[in-house]
Amino acid sequence: MVRMIAPVVGLLAAGAAAVPTARDSTCSSLSQTDFKWSVSDLQYNSSVIFSTPAHQIDNGVIQFNISNPAFPGKAASICTAYSTRPNDFFYGDQVFTCNAGIPEGGLTTTFTYNAPSKTLALNQSWSCAGEQTSFTYEGSVDLSSKLKCQNEEYTNPKWSIGETYTSNTTTCTAADFEWTPSSGSAVAK
Ligand SMILES: *[C@@H]1O[C@H](CO)[C@@H](O)[C@H](O)[C@H]1NC(C)=O
Ligand SMILES: *[C@@H]1O[C@H](CO)[C@@H](O)[C@H](O)[C@H]1NC(C)=O
Ligand SMILES: *[C@@H]1O[C@H](CO)[C@@H](O)[C@H](O)[C@H]1NC(C)=O
Ligand SMILES: *[C@@H]1O[C@H](CO)[C@@H](O)[C@H](O)[C@H]1NC(C)=O
Repeated sequence: MVRMIAPVVGLLAAGAAAVPTARDSTCSSLSQTDFKWSVSDLQYNSSVIFSTPAHQIDNGVIQFNISNPAFPGKAASICTAYSTRPNDFFYGDQVFTCNAGIPEGGLTTTFTYNAPSKTLALNQSWSCAGEQTSFTYEGSVDLSSKLKCQNEEYTNPKWSIGETYTSNTTTCTAADFEWTPSSGSAVAK
């Protein structure tokens, strides 16, 4: 049985006898009741450096840890993406895969980031071993109000070979936050 749901809360509450629905701590119920991801250590950095007036070096990186409440106490998945596409680096068109900290459940996480709109989108799927259930959740979050950024621009007026000509670096961090998926589906076998 497959059900599409939005919001996620209350998923499978009706009509899915095979899935435990009590407020217990089984993987299946933790995957449904009041489900929220926890995001920590989110960082976004970008730099555009001219090592000579004609040589531009571009780097962007976004990184965060995300943990899934269905697997309490397990290491978070680590999501990292690099880009060399100035000036915004991330345009929401490339899908990146996170490094699962949890080997069980086939946990798979993919994400995109759109720097112009500061939108982080994420898909995560997993199954609950021995409970015959699997879940796929999707979420999207606007980081505009979460990112705290510092920008540093530098110009070398007396540039000579071997020195940096100009640099423009941005370093952003965000406080840890909880993230409720916008939609999801569950399969009970
Ligand atoms: C993020 O995950 C890495 C690798 O497991 C860990 O070293 C780091 O402490 C984590 N950061 C936070 C804030 O949990
Ligand atoms: C971002 O830049 C800061 C300051 O240079 C650095 O400490 C941090 O490790 C960088 N983060 C990533 C993901 O590269
Ligand atoms: C998430 O899944 C949907 C539906 O399969 C897909 O359209 C979207 O591109 C995926 N997004 C990410 C970040 O993987
Ligand atoms: C430096 O980078 C910031 C952030 O990307 C951008 O808003 C600003 O216009 C850049 N400055 C220059 C001189 O290109």
